[in-house]
Amino acid sequence: MKSLIDILDLSVNEIDNLIDTANDIIANPEKYAHKCQGKKLATLFFEPSTRTRLSFEAAMYELGGNVLGFSEAQSSSSSKGESVADTVKVVGYYADIIAMRHPKEGAPLVASYNAGVPVINAGDGGHNHPTQTLTDLLTIKREKGRLDNLTVGFCGDLKFGRTVHSLIGALSRYENVKIVLVSPKELTVPEYIKKEVLEAKNIEFIETTDLESAMPDLDILYMTRVQRERFFNEQDYIRLKDSYILTPEKLEIAKNDLCILHPLPRVNEIKVAVDKDSRAKYFEQAKNGKYIRMALILKLLEVE
Ligand code: CP
Repeated sequence: MKSLIDILDLSVNEIDNLIDTANDIIANPEKYAHKCQGKKLATLFFEPSTRTRLSFEAAMYELGGNVLGFSEAQSSSSSKGESVADTVKVVGYYADIIAMRHPKEGAPLVASYNAGVPVINAGDGGHNHPTQTLTDLLTIKREKGRLDNLTVGFCGDLKFGRTVHSLIGALSRYENVKIVLVSPKELTVPEYIKKEVLEAKNIEFIETTDLESAMPDLDILYMTRVQRERFFNEQDYIRLKDSYILTPEKLEIAKNDLCILHPLPRVNEIKVAVDKDSRAKYFEQAKNGKYIRMALILKLLEVE
């Protein structure tokens, strides 16, 4: 039984296979319509979500399976003090696979030791979000035709942005990927990512506060929201929340084939006017999330 807690739990070959399966699902959805008949997915969301929870649920329905779960901690017995370990032990009796989002880093890992069924980390605090990374990789592969030889800019809240942490880890395994980290000084990528991923794997990277100077070199621009829910101090959030706002004017110096991504939700960091730009791929990215999660469910349930 395999769980997905960290994107590095999957080999590059396994990720390639998931991307191939997702592309086949997009091309031939009818082939997959009954693959999970009789199977149940439990979505245990202790934190808010739109895309991740609903795309997981849509994924399971489109595979012919069923879904149960909760969308906030308050409607589960964790509000009475039940531990994650006890919760998933019980849910493992009712469902074949679990997708869990939790505000505490490491909670899905604890769940994977106790559930008795595969557990998927659907986002744990400011740590990791591996299924968003699979979504990002599928989108990059579909848009650029490759996952290597890319200059990828990450912009915004790189400290608390768990999608950034997971995607840097995934991209560090591909050839000739250059990383440009654009953030305010208070929201730089955590030291452990610089030391254990970027420096350890000899990945070329720069840190800057200036998006405009970085823009012309980028193949991918990955914008992120400043993560209000992770701040200890509202004043700091207010001071930093509008550090970067992408506008059509700022994109005038970007490559014609730039691919603009954002895990969403967006607050104010990409102006709505950018949505009309053919380089804006963030809604396509959200759509892809359902297909890659279908592929992942099939893999973890060992459905042929
Ligand atoms: N990208 C993402 O995780 O979105 P949700 O928080 O809406 O699930």
